[in-house]
Amino acid sequence: MEKNTIKHLYIHIPFCQKKCPYCDFYSIATKDKNIKKEYLKALIKELNYYKNQVGFNLKTLYFGGGSPLTLGIDKLKILIKNLKITNKTEITIEINPEHLENTKNIIKSLKDIGFNRISIGVQTLKKSILKELKRFYNLEKLEQNIKEIKKLKINFSLDFMFGLPNQKIEDLKKDLNFVKKHKIKHVSFYLFTVSDRKPYKLPKEEIIQKMFKLIDKYLTKNKYVHYEVSNFAKYGFFSKHNLAYWSRKEYLGLGVGAHSFLNKKRFWKIKNLKEYIKNPKKVKAEKINKEKKDKEKIMLGLRLLEKGINKNLIKDLENLEYLKKYKLIKIIKNKVKINRQKTYLIDSIVEELI
Ligand SMILES: C[S@@+](CC[C@H](N)C(=O)[O-])C[C@H]1O[C@@H](n2cnc3c(N)ncnc32)[C@H](O)[C@@H]1O
Ligand code: SF4
Repeated sequence: MEKNTIKHLYIHIPFCQKKCPYCDFYSIATKDKNIKKEYLKALIKELNYYKNQVGFNLKTLYFGGGSPLTLGIDKLKILIKNLKITNKTEITIEINPEHLENTKNIIKSLKDIGFNRISIGVQTLKKSILKELKRFYNLEKLEQNIKEIKKLKINFSLDFMFGLPNQKIEDLKKDLNFVKKHKIKHVSFYLFTVSDRKPYKLPKEEIIQKMFKLIDKYLTKNKYVHYEVSNFAKYGFFSKHNLAYWSRKEYLGLGVGAHSFLNKKRFWKIKNLKEYIKNPKKVKAEKINKEKKDKEKIMLGLRLLEKGINKNLIKDLENLEYLKKYKLIKIIKNKVKINRQKTYLIDSIVEELI
């Protein structure tokens, strides 16, 4: 049988300098060098296991976390050396703004080992909100750092959150103005979501709806393409890696808690660092049958605003008409697309259609 080829690879680095109280991503705060060494060993063991079974021809490689830089440049370099990359591979790393203090050196080292895209977690430019989120970085220096990054000619994206504790529309406007002023090519705006809302004073539902509309209107007016529910970019700067997920392309995820989609199976590792280090090959798996496949096509396809989904995937035509009547979706020829300004309702829309 012909060997399957991995085109998209995700590597999870579960370390942070400190744990943010609102974050549900699998990560732990540690300075323990030993555990990082062991983690690197486990990652390479897992990689070698797959190398024996599948081929690698990487179009995209994504280091997410956690805060991948906290693994150390030397270890990231070892990982990349173990992978076949070309000068066409999109190689992204997520970075916390506070790790960019020495911007020039860090970006140069990252470029030297092959990275050509970085994603920076700005979150918001409002100092008092950052303080509430227990995020501490030098806001004044961020502007300077961004200018420096531009000079160093590396693609970059900024992450923002909205619907934050005590956030006002005016605060969001300042974040949007910053994106415009610095001609940022790619930006994500995530709705702040927490499992325990108690400690936070979150904006009312109607304010959140206004925020969603403002983000869409402001950015599309400024020639950004709202290409996915939370993602906006100038043409040519879409995230190829994330597009692969939303387009249901196969990918491999290495590291603790990472998910994969290969040979019509979705499989994942449990979120337990010690267990992963002990046995990095252990996975839980789910086979994707025709029914699941169609549901995934609806769930993922609707996220891509321009692409949409084929109408014949929808069984419940009554619900489809209902959503159309209330302008939540539009039907163009044989395609169903979500209405740009209603993307905040994506979960409920999908629920009606699957
Ligand atoms: C994997 S996280 C980590 C990135 C990096 N460690 C940082 O904090 O800057 C990627 C992005 O997810 C978003 N995020 C994290 N927690 C979130 C939450 N509770 N609700 C919405 N977005 C969240 C943030 O915008 C963050 O930059
Ligand atoms: S630094 Fe980023 S990944 Fe780490 S806990 Fe905070 S938000 Fe989560």
